[in-house]
Amino acid sequence: MKTTFSIIKADVGGWPGHASVHPDLKEIANKRLSDAVKSKTLKDFHVTNCGDDLELIMTHTNGVDSKEVHTLSWDTFLEATERARDLGLYGAGQDILSDAFSGNIRGMGPGIAEMEFQERKAEPIVAFMMDKTEPGAFNFPIFKIFADPFNTAGLIIDPSIHDGFVFEVWDIQEHKHVFMKTPEEMYDLLALIGAKSRFVIKRVFPKKSSKLPADEAVAVISTEKLFQIAGEYVGKDDPAGVVRAQSGLPALGEVLEGFALGHLVSGWMRGSHNGPLMPVSVEQARCTRFDGPPRVIALGFQCKNGKLTQPVDLFDDPAFDRTRVEAQHITDYMRRHGPFEPHRLPMQDMEYTTLPKVITKLGDRFKKMK
Ligand code: F6R
Ligand code: MG
Ligand code: MG
Repeated sequence: MKTTFSIIKADVGGWPGHASVHPDLKEIANKRLSDAVKSKTLKDFHVTNCGDDLELIMTHTNGVDSKEVHTLSWDTFLEATERARDLGLYGAGQDILSDAFSGNIRGMGPGIAEMEFQERKAEPIVAFMMDKTEPGAFNFPIFKIFADPFNTAGLIIDPSIHDGFVFEVWDIQEHKHVFMKTPEEMYDLLALIGAKSRFVIKRVFPKKSSKLPADEAVAVISTEKLFQIAGEYVGKDDPAGVVRAQSGLPALGEVLEGFALGHLVSGWMRGSHNGPLMPVSVEQARCTRFDGPPRVIALGFQCKNGKLTQPVDLFDDPAFDRTRVEAQHITDYMRRHGPFEPHRLPMQDMEYTTLPKVITKLGDRFKKMK
């Protein structure tokens, strides 16, 4: 029997502003998901939050896009939204974009990262969750983990991963996808995924030569784009991702090493600024300074017959202190740019803008230059 690992997440109300998730909402989720374990819809679950996003981490045997699991998640978000409204939380129901739910949560507002796989003898798996950024924020670390030998020593010295991996990249403007092999197509891959607001890594697969099945993803990222779904900006698509590790895959430490830079990502303050992605503990996953800086948390599990061990809070470690201090320096430096690019995003990528109004207001005062 294959196991499905699903993270389904939504911002259904912030506490306060867009900083964090109120404990009542997590309590609702814990209750619903524990009932679902009792009724056998789920094998196991863990509820957490990253910033203002409520994160449902679930295991089951229903496969990806399961009606039962999506309905469970949707109903959980609806009940949490009601509570958020009662408490007067900020932006209650922000990611509930439609009331026409018909069994699949895709395109309805929440973000989804799901994969189905045959468990290995021991299955280490990491759930990554980010706030105040976009799915393209995963491009850099996922590339480093699965394709950069300066990050992942195993690509050079472990025969079981020496052949490399296959990346599935989505063009989120044109709604197309492409599969690319590394190391053979590394430069072409980088040409795409460096443009991270358009080309996003959706999944990574083993190659045919691997001892792992080539059709079972070993990493998956949520790629929902809320503004495309709703036709207008209604909230950010703060992403989540799942990465499996060890024996035939990058080691856990090679997976975490991908996050050691505090690389620059888009989506900070009003979805319109660049800033460093700071790896933090769950405890520190609340967005404060200038609504950020953007954060990522990592929970590590061992999974056996769909049952999860308690999670380990993997960035809750002094080994990441330097990254955090560096991210704070970068924060100071970026912030000093105020409204100037590249702290502020280029015009076409901003989620808030007054520019058309300013241009209209200036009207005739703009004169043709000779
Ligand atoms: C939300 C976010 C925040 C908001 C900002 C303004 O995820 O990134 O930075 O964009 O706090 O929010 P509103 O427009 O709701 O006052
Ligand atoms: Mg919010
Ligand atoms: Mg958020």
